[in-house]
Amino acid sequence: MCGIVGAVAQRDVAEILLEGLRRLEYRGYDSAGIAVTTPEGELKRLRRLGKVQELTDAVHSQPMAGGTGIAHTRWATHGEPSEANAHPHMSGSDIAVVHNGIIENHEALRESLKEAGYAFTSQTDTEVIAHLVDLELTRHDTLLSAVQATVKQLEGAYGTVVMDRRDPSRVVVARSGSPLVIGYGMGEHFIASDQLALLPVTRRFAFLEEGDVAEVTRFDVNIFDVNGDPVTRDVKESEVSHDAGDKGQYRHYMMKEIHEQPVALQRTLEGRIANGHVVASAFGENAEALLKDVKHVQIIACGTSYHAGLVARYWFEQWAGVSCNVEIASEFRYRRSHVFENSLLVTISQSGETADTLAALRLAKEMGYMASLTICNVPGSSLVRESDMAYMMKAGAEIGVASTKAFTVQLAGLLMLVGAIGRHNALDAQTEHALVSALQSLPAKLEQTLAMAEDIEALAEDFADKHHSLFLGRGEQSPIAMEGALKLKEISYIHAEAYAAGELKHGPLALIDAEMPVIVVAPNNELLEKLKSNVEEVRARGGLMYVFADTNAHFSSDDTMKVLNVPHCDEFIAPIVYTLPLQLLSYYVALIKGTDVDQPRNLAKSVTVE
Ligand code: M6R
Repeated sequence: MCGIVGAVAQRDVAEILLEGLRRLEYRGYDSAGIAVTTPEGELKRLRRLGKVQELTDAVHSQPMAGGTGIAHTRWATHGEPSEANAHPHMSGSDIAVVHNGIIENHEALRESLKEAGYAFTSQTDTEVIAHLVDLELTRHDTLLSAVQATVKQLEGAYGTVVMDRRDPSRVVVARSGSPLVIGYGMGEHFIASDQLALLPVTRRFAFLEEGDVAEVTRFDVNIFDVNGDPVTRDVKESEVSHDAGDKGQYRHYMMKEIHEQPVALQRTLEGRIANGHVVASAFGENAEALLKDVKHVQIIACGTSYHAGLVARYWFEQWAGVSCNVEIASEFRYRRSHVFENSLLVTISQSGETADTLAALRLAKEMGYMASLTICNVPGSSLVRESDMAYMMKAGAEIGVASTKAFTVQLAGLLMLVGAIGRHNALDAQTEHALVSALQSLPAKLEQTLAMAEDIEALAEDFADKHHSLFLGRGEQSPIAMEGALKLKEISYIHAEAYAAGELKHGPLALIDAEMPVIVVAPNNELLEKLKSNVEEVRARGGLMYVFADTNAHFSSDDTMKVLNVPHCDEFIAPIVYTLPLQLLSYYVALIKGTDVDQPRNLAKSVTVE
């Protein structure tokens, strides 16, 4: 959450910082701010409540010259969204700081800083960093050593960049629990919380490790590890595409990302299937040796990624013949749980930085799992670095806060894992062949499914005045119903619940009336007849249904039911295929509702705080 951009250059950097913020805005969008050291030696700061565009307009009306600067887009944790709480925070007129994360001991630090004579102008935890650095500068000669002394006093998570008006030749950055990357240019260097911010100015990046503090000047980057010893961190060429941060022909990132799914699926499969088998090395160099012994899978994730795990549980138990548990990371980490023998820990995360998932991984590593694997979209992210194995999703940058292509690519990765583990367990050669062929048919099938967009757009009109909705599915489609409900509530703010359809008569049937649209996912599988009985239960109570059904499922539209045919597909991939109409439905409903599709209220893309 929150986005950081910084630069030390000869040229003016305000526009670079603003473009970086625009590219990071999906990470937090309550308020934004920028500080630059001007050629006259002043520290000029501008902050605005609201979107980055507000800040951009302010900078354009009061241009900021200067080659050293920092900028931030905020998702409020401590202190309401306001201009006073927006970053950068300053100590006097010399020190400016931007920060991602949460300083847990900020109250104690605030009290002792007040006693030392510092006056606070915000409610944020971040302001203590600025004053601490200022205080430490009275005891240390350099900004670097003052920041090193400061971070020793901080408890919690931080990615922070500090600048000092009196020495514009450098900034000092520090990372613990919140990612930071350094971008290498020609005679200039940049800092960001995500490489995406810096792609217009460089493609060469070094990722800071936990506990690193670095001094960044135009010509040098000196990095020190948690013990203060000098270290080098590899500088790598980015694989992220240059236009990843652009919407292209689409009105919203979400729609762009929905339409990118056939290509994203193609990319994730590429080179990972050979001779009718899933190539085990897709999960890491020594994956084959580890995966062959797996007898149980424990999945941990949050939000949409958790839903992917729930679908995979059906797959692992049905096809691979290994048991599987799935748990929300924030529950797993605070619960005493049992580790089964030969148990593989799998985390799923688009960002690789979700605080609860990362904490759960760290905890699980102490607990005796045979190995940890992450299914993750962001190379170099914390989950990738801290797991024994990684399946890199290659979905491409996902910017819309509502996760779309990451979900379907996660499902494909999980299905591959079912193949790779299953062949050493219950998956026979014929079923493995069918699974692999189904995976290979995905890109074309998704392309075909996207053709439903126009019909779904028309259907969305019916939701314009609705406040509640219910999503139903059975078997591995019940987590798809949950994902459909999450998408709808997240971007249209319509209250949406999801149930395994068999649960209807155990309570939710009481909600059914003409004001409660019921969305049903109905592929042609062995549970179809059971699902049809559930549909009748709704019909008998005067409910209005929207059924996404297989062509051969023989549903027909009438007064109580609108049926949209989904292209027929293999049962292995049905959860992936049926996700697309639900994504499109939530998108079009949100358009009608006029909500901010890519940046829904109160949310942020990457949840790096607990
Ligand atoms: O980056 P992660 O996959 O770990 O994120 C987990 C959730 O925060 C995320 O999936 C969230 O639920 C999405 N915004 C839902 O669309």
